[in-house]
Amino acid sequence: MRKAFAGVAALLMVVVVIQFFLAGSGAFDNGPVDEAFKPHRSLGYLTVILAIVLTLAAAVARMPGRIIGLAGLVAGLTLLQPVIAVVAKGFGDEGTTTTAGQIVFGLHAVNGLVIMAVLRNVLMASRQQAAPAHSARTAS
Ligand code: HEM
Repeated sequence: MRKAFAGVAALLMVVVVIQFFLAGSGAFDNGPVDEAFKPHRSLGYLTVILAIVLTLAAAVARMPGRIIGLAGLVAGLTLLQPVIAVVAKGFGDEGTTTTAGQIVFGLHAVNGLVIMAVLRNVLMASRQQAAPAHSARTAS
């Protein structure tokens, strides 16, 4: 089960990197924002689900409490991504953006970096836990 947990953590890291890629390619799109960011938005909600699965997998695999907590933090931070987007849009009117909304939405990008940093810790710890007992002991 610990190997499965390490697998989900690795998959989530790949998905987060793709999210950054899709945000960048969406920003270069000439079409309407709704269309340009469609793939990023869809994968964004899948990211949230995957992060919740990661947390459940950590609990089922009986990982140390710190790792379960970090996985839960990743899930909470990914859940924050659409919330930030909704709050930022709330500052505008009928699709227009405002300076306040732009500042709030900037947090969406910064939060993406924080998600990656926390997830990196989870991934490293998951690999250590999935290693055979001998190397796990010597690594800690
Ligand atoms: C872990 C990384 C990320 C996740 C999980 C994520 C998730 C999401 C989600 C769920 C949405 C849809 C929100 C909605 O329905 O209104 C969204 C929209 C968006 N995200 Fe991200 N995001 C991430 C990183 C980034 C980064 C790094 C950028 C840019 C630097 C970015 C830019 C955007 C933009 C421009 C939108 C479209 C907002 C709109 O609909 O007008 N995202 N993201």
